[in-house]
Amino acid sequence: MAPISSPQSALSWCIVGRGAIGLLAGARLQQAGYTATLWLKQPDAIPLQFTDLTQQYQQQILLPQPKDQAIARLLVPVKAYDVLNAVAQLLPYLSPNAQLVISHNGMIPIAPLLARLRPAQGLWFLSTSQAAYKPAADHVVHSGEGLSYLAKLTASDGNDSQVIAAMNAALGPVTVVPDIYPMLWQKLAINVAINPLTALENCQNGQLAHPRYQSQISALTTEVCLVANALGYPMEPTATVQRVYQVITATSGNFSSMQQDMQAGRQTEIAAICGYICQQAAQLQLSVPVNQQMLDRVLAKTATS
Ligand SMILES: NC(=O)c1ccc[n+]([C@@H]2O[C@H](COP(=O)([O-])OP(=O)(O)OC[C@H]3O[C@@H](n4cnc5c(N)ncnc54)[C@H](OP(=O)(O)O)[C@@H]3O)[C@@H](O)[C@H]2O)c1
Repeated sequence: MAPISSPQSALSWCIVGRGAIGLLAGARLQQAGYTATLWLKQPDAIPLQFTDLTQQYQQQILLPQPKDQAIARLLVPVKAYDVLNAVAQLLPYLSPNAQLVISHNGMIPIAPLLARLRPAQGLWFLSTSQAAYKPAADHVVHSGEGLSYLAKLTASDGNDSQVIAAMNAALGPVTVVPDIYPMLWQKLAINVAINPLTALENCQNGQLAHPRYQSQISALTTEVCLVANALGYPMEPTATVQRVYQVITATSGNFSSMQQDMQAGRQTEIAAICGYICQQAAQLQLSVPVNQQMLDRVLAKTATS
């Protein structure tokens, strides 16, 4: 049913789901004086324990989004494979000039999403390297500080400074960029090189520094550069492979999200990582056999687990 009451106040944000990044954003927004409501599959109030980077605990309550109130500001921090469905579900509840911020790993075709928005609705992408996890359903731990990049994907007029201020509070420090795609391609190259291999080998990132993975890492990364260059995002293979190895070293003790998802028997984001490369390559009539092989192997393993 369409919302009937007046829209949220400027300091209110609705967040989709009760995932690690969403609860981190909700807890930090409330700490900064915003109201954060949750759009949940089972609408419940969540008594949340929030552990910040300094190990300070805070008890908060996040309330479910009232279904009769138009949503003016929406954060969608869900897995890449859930973004389109989540936004489709929320569309009838959005105000005509609502601002939506999507935040996920990997890449998805954005055109179907843009096509469903009204002219005055705004779409933003926030890419974050903040890290959070949930040791329990009602506990979120902010486990690593990282930068976030924010860009507006639509030309609609909106109160941009309010969105930027809120995202700084939620997942900042935020750097606002005019075009998010160069950054997303760099990040995608790193995800392509690290995530499927660590998932299939069931290892920490640092194990990929072993010479036996060198040719696969180089081929995976070179294929990403091939596709990115063809789409107008210049990426040099040698420098990109170097960056991959810098990340492997800097995060050597970490388990990638795909390794964790595969071990837990959850769906992975492989379709938005190697799958996106394969899909774009097919449209460009380029060959990306190593990405295709990783996509097939991860899908085969998650389908049978
Ligand atoms: N966690 C991190 O440290 C981190 C860091 C950087 C980037 N990221 C990226 O950020 C994104 C979110 O990560 P996350 O770790 O927060 O994921 P997550 O824990 O899986 O959280 C997503 C939540 O959204 C819920 N959801 C999905 N669609 C929904 C819908 N239509 N209505 C209501 N709830 C819905 C999911 O519910 P179900 O579980 O019931 O499906 C889940 O609770 C991912 O792309 C991830 O790769 C994460």
